Amino acid sequence: MAVASSFSSERLPRHVAIVMDGNGRWAKKRFLPRVAGHKQGVDALRHTVQSCIDRGVRVLTVFAFSSENWNRPVDEVSGLMELLALALSREVPRLHEKGVQLHFPGDRAVLSSRVQKALVEAESLTVGNHTLVLNVCFNYGGRWDIAQAARRLVAEGREITEAALSETTALAHVGDPDLLIRTGGEMRISNFLLWQSAYTEMVFTPCLWPDFDAQALDQALAEYAGRERRFGQTSEQVSSASGSSHA
Ligand code: FPP
Repeated sequence: MAVASSFSSERLPRHVAIVMDGNGRWAKKRFLPRVAGHKQGVDALRHTVQSCIDRGVRVLTVFAFSSENWNRPVDEVSGLMELLALALSREVPRLHEKGVQLHFPGDRAVLSSRVQKALVEAESLTVGNHTLVLNVCFNYGGRWDIAQAARRLVAEGREITEAALSETTALAHVGDPDLLIRTGGEMRISNFLLWQSAYTEMVFTPCLWPDFDAQALDQALAEYAGRERRFGQTSEQVSSASGSSHA
């Protein structure tokens, strides 16, 4: 279903990234364990995937588990690992049906061999899909990503240049995000896409992730549509370039 969007295609971000924050507070408000908030977070993610498809967003990248999340209480970490395994078995067939191409950027070496196998299988199954590319960043950190790319270039005897690093990061297959949304009210990037977000527009919303719905997405898209992206140029240069491209 294509939603009658109020955004022209040039004002719609091609690549949206999301820090899905606020699951713990959502659960606490309801006197539920934190893992219940993460479970509800999976539902919000499922709906957001559909909303992105409906609006014509081509790439969605979400932060599901950060390199630093290992420092959380043991039962929360194991709950998130179980949730990943459950989400993979339940959601992958549905996502494949919708034509979603899946990737799991992050350091997989420490994940269980069962989960590692499921990640590879999900990626192989969906590799030919093109409706939406969904990157579920798991055991991901921006610093890890820059370091692993640099290590790889050194191992291959290549020069470390900006272009070489860009094509070696874990998100090289999708390019940089146009819009990064962080829910939950905090205004920081928390080691997410450090290399890739140099010119990304940021939208922060107090909405807790489990409450994030199509309307909240549209609000973020509207804020993005009103931004002027200058990439280091002046406003006048940007206006004259966009005027000439439409001439
Ligand atoms: C941050 O909220 C959220 C996380 C650390 C996990 C995000 C995971 C999901 C939304 C579920 C999707 C997961 C999989 C496995 C596909 P928080 O716990 O920091 O919330 P708080 O700031 O309110 O405490």
